[in-house]
Amino acid sequence: MHPAYTQAGVKAAVRDPGPDDLVVLRDVKKSFGPGHEVLRGIDLVARRGDTTVIIGGSGAGKTTLLRHIVALEQPTSGDILIDRENIVGLSERELNRVRQKFGMVYQYAALLDSFTVMENVAFPLVEHTKLKKKEIEARVVEKLRILDLDPDVARKFPSELSGGMRKRVGLARALMMEPPILVYDEPTSGLDPLTSRVVDDLIEEMRQRFGVTSIVISHDIASCFRIAHQAVLLIRGEIVARGSPDELAQGDSAVARDFIEKSGVAVGDVGRVGDGR
Ligand SMILES: Nc1ncnc2c1ncn2[C@@H]1O[C@H](COP(=O)(O)OP(=O)(O)OP(=O)(O)O)[C@@H](O)[C@H]1O
Ligand SMILES: [Mg+2]
Repeated sequence: MHPAYTQAGVKAAVRDPGPDDLVVLRDVKKSFGPGHEVLRGIDLVARRGDTTVIIGGSGAGKTTLLRHIVALEQPTSGDILIDRENIVGLSERELNRVRQKFGMVYQYAALLDSFTVMENVAFPLVEHTKLKKKEIEARVVEKLRILDLDPDVARKFPSELSGGMRKRVGLARALMMEPPILVYDEPTSGLDPLTSRVVDDLIEEMRQRFGVTSIVISHDIASCFRIAHQAVLLIRGEIVARGSPDELAQGDSAVARDFIEKSGVAVGDVGRVGDGR
């Protein structure tokens, strides 16, 4: 395990990040008003090309942590480095530039129901580029094709698609600006187990085909075991354990062992993406 992915080594790693330490949080704290500290000194490294999965109970601060990483929220104190640029204290205009390094995939895909798939997926290009309509449409169809979606899907509305297809459409939209980092907030929640595995495969496929770095929030321990290079356990605003999923399940942290055991997932049987299990 890379030292940055160990509880013992992360402090030194965040002090002096290397070129492959793409996302670095250094003692990040966030309070929403007095007495409401939601992030309580987060040290975190997500290395280039790896998949980091954040697990933890409801209200632990997972979404808040993710919103800091994608520059939608600024910390009360601490540093956030994206590709070794400290983004804390940047102007709104500079933050907008940083935000374009991220593609976001939300729970339930978060597609706009009254817009077609074409309009949904085209949205980032309409928003961030001056491309002509024809060019935008061509790029949408191209992205749909990459995600194994028929061009006909472009004319449909989200309600006409299956859960798995909606995820693909959400991914197509997240990939429109070809971001180096993809973040997913609960990508498998609300999906049946089979579709969840398809989403795991998709996350891995994005990594292998486009070399993207992925940061995934998940309640799904099986998914964590299938895709994570690094798993971190967030409890009440603190990372209490980190390492490979196996290390969380079998390592020194009683809290982590307990958290994984309580999920009821037989982690020994889960396997990794691509091994046919
Ligand atoms: N903008 C905000 N203003 C005030 N409090 C906030 C804000 N955003 C988040 N919080 C609080 O921060 C805490 C953590 O919320 P967060 O959504 O990050 O948890 P979570 O781990 O993602 O939970 P879940 O698993 O339910 O999605 C909650 O108590 C929430 O009310
Ligand atoms: Mg959340």
